[in-house]
Amino acid sequence: MAKTLDTASDSKYRDLYAASMATPAAFWAEAANAVSWTRKPRRVLDDSDPPFYRWFPDGELNTCANALDRHVDGGRGEQTALIYDSPVTGTQRAYTYRELLDETARFAGALRKLGVGTGDRVVIYMPMIPEAVVAMLACARLGAVHSVVFGGFAPHELATRIDDARPAVVVSASCGIEPSRIVEYKPMLDAALDVAKHPPRNCVIVQRERHRCDLTPGRDLDWHQLIGHASPVAAVPVPATAPLYVLYTSGTTGKPKGIVRDNGGHAVALLWSIRYIYDIEPGDVFWAASDVGWVVGHSYIVYGPLLAGATTVLYEGKPIGTPDPGAFWRMASEHGVKALFSAPTALRAIRKEDPDGIHISRYDLSQLRCLFQAGERLDPDTYAWAVEKLGIPVIDHWWQTETGWAIAANPMGLQPLPIKAGSPTVPMPGYDVRILRVDGSGCEPGEEGAICIKLPLPPGTLPTLWDDDVRYEASYLCEHPGYYLTGDGGYIDEDGYLFVMGRIDDVINVAGHRLSTGAIEEVLATHPAVAECAVIGIADEIKGQVPRGLVVLKAGAAAEGLTDELVQLVRDEIGAVACLRQVDVVAALPKTRSGKILRKTMRGIAHGKDEPIPSTIEDAGVLHTIKAILQPKPPPRQGIS
Ligand code: COA
Ligand code: AMP
Repeated sequence: MAKTLDTASDSKYRDLYAASMATPAAFWAEAANAVSWTRKPRRVLDDSDPPFYRWFPDGELNTCANALDRHVDGGRGEQTALIYDSPVTGTQRAYTYRELLDETARFAGALRKLGVGTGDRVVIYMPMIPEAVVAMLACARLGAVHSVVFGGFAPHELATRIDDARPAVVVSASCGIEPSRIVEYKPMLDAALDVAKHPPRNCVIVQRERHRCDLTPGRDLDWHQLIGHASPVAAVPVPATAPLYVLYTSGTTGKPKGIVRDNGGHAVALLWSIRYIYDIEPGDVFWAASDVGWVVGHSYIVYGPLLAGATTVLYEGKPIGTPDPGAFWRMASEHGVKALFSAPTALRAIRKEDPDGIHISRYDLSQLRCLFQAGERLDPDTYAWAVEKLGIPVIDHWWQTETGWAIAANPMGLQPLPIKAGSPTVPMPGYDVRILRVDGSGCEPGEEGAICIKLPLPPGTLPTLWDDDVRYEASYLCEHPGYYLTGDGGYIDEDGYLFVMGRIDDVINVAGHRLSTGAIEEVLATHPAVAECAVIGIADEIKGQVPRGLVVLKAGAAAEGLTDELVQLVRDEIGAVACLRQVDVVAALPKTRSGKILRKTMRGIAHGKDEPIPSTIEDAGVLHTIKAILQPKPPPRQGIS
């Protein structure tokens, strides 16, 4: 049992957190000193238009200049900024800060020649190659707004994001390389642009040796030719409140939410977090084993480590199979990684293939001080295995695309706190975390409820949704006025430790990838044989959750071969990452008398919970049938709901 936080030895965290609550403006003004501003903010928080808040409203800066120029000017030009390690192509390459700045400034010059200016959007649909990082930083340099779309998404998802962001340019590559196959990006990009209502003027394509593609004359340009003729451009100062990027994430419907990140609050928050949560100093090597298409990639492959003057690692490979379950340890050892950040699903995959940690013992991991985990709950079993095999602190921390940095963590660079397995530890400065009941009253310690954060959210978090203030309010702020609804459920124990038990909405987490069951349902519903359908997340040993579909057929429609067709449809429309493998044909779906499908009840049943039959149910017999289908055979994993 960990000791409580109410002891003198925990005072550093406790005092700092208390200061961030009592005097947020003073707290964040101090943190803002770590940023190089072109105009230092005199105001810290504009709270004149609640529930919309703006941090550092009169500040001005350039994020790329903070991430690159500043370090070159400060004498770190020859230090490695980025290590690219790609077991799938057998390539390794290191970029110094000077080289990364040079490449970025020239690509920014190329984008400017294509007419990209401050506030213009650029969609980046790329595999894990250095050009993806360069493209992001080049946008930041111009004050343009990047929107990275995860390479595993299918054309329809890409088109939806293009239409919402309305980019001037799309940057992509000829292919991605998965261990088992080449993923041809260009046909997917072309398919997306065929249906997009707001296609870009130009596409810039990185031709990869493994598979080159045809370029569309007049629209597509070759990255290498373009950058070869481009002149470097200087960083453009932008208001702190100007958007740096839009990152789309799954909500409860098929329409993804465009999470907006500003420049000023983002730089301040990431500089604070990389130092005090991850304990990273200039010159340290930090590796987030994620993808630039996810928020972890934005915050801790690209911006966090580079803002800090550290070395970041870009890994084009998998935790297993490239070539073996020792891949992470090989990387950590070879590159001198001080802190590694991955999703628990990766650890579970490694553990399954190497339960005794034989591969761990093959490498010198003396420089690896800490393993950070996020993206889904770190289950106590996996936690115990990792601690035993690695012998270093394994830190769960909880956050979301919306927040951009950890809501709850163990601040390793400030004061490591005692760990409780299954808990991401305690709220970070600026996050006033509350557990609320349905009626809005506060839960007692240990009582589970909706995890909410009292407004205003700290710097670095979303100020709104792209072009949609109304949806921002409706999605996050209306349920409990004055609070941000995280969408997760959980509790705070008597020691002040937070326990996050899972989503309380229709978002699921599949192998660390956030997906919407609503989006999958929308795809299933387009099949001509489907009358209605429901998709729920069910527990999976490795991926945490996987979607499972239930469909009711139209009268006279044949069930034969339907499952395969529906699985393929979801792969084609959303992408292989959705991992929909199981679809059951049922006679009816359980509903309330008013016609609402009882998804929450079905979720509970699928996780082995003894779900009460709602009094509003239309036909209890239907629920009994569904129970027989969904009830797990082996007991479910703890804590995934
Ligand atoms: N581009 C194109 N396709 C992709 C892709 C990408 N970037 N990433 C995954 N896919 C495809 C895979 O090729 C696979 O396709 P298949 O069904 O044809 O084989 C499918 O999507 C599912 O892939 P994945 O989720 O990687 O599952 P897996 O069973 O191949 O591997 C893990 C399991 C646990 C090893 C893997 O999911 C993993 O590494 N997860 C960690 C994810 C992560 O770090 N997330 C970020 C959290 S911070
Ligand atoms: P994403 O926006 O893709 O980062 O996904 C955010 C969601 O992942 C959260 O709302 C949680 O449901 C889940 N999540 C992320 N980190 C954790 C964690 N450490 N513990 C529990 N759930 C987590």
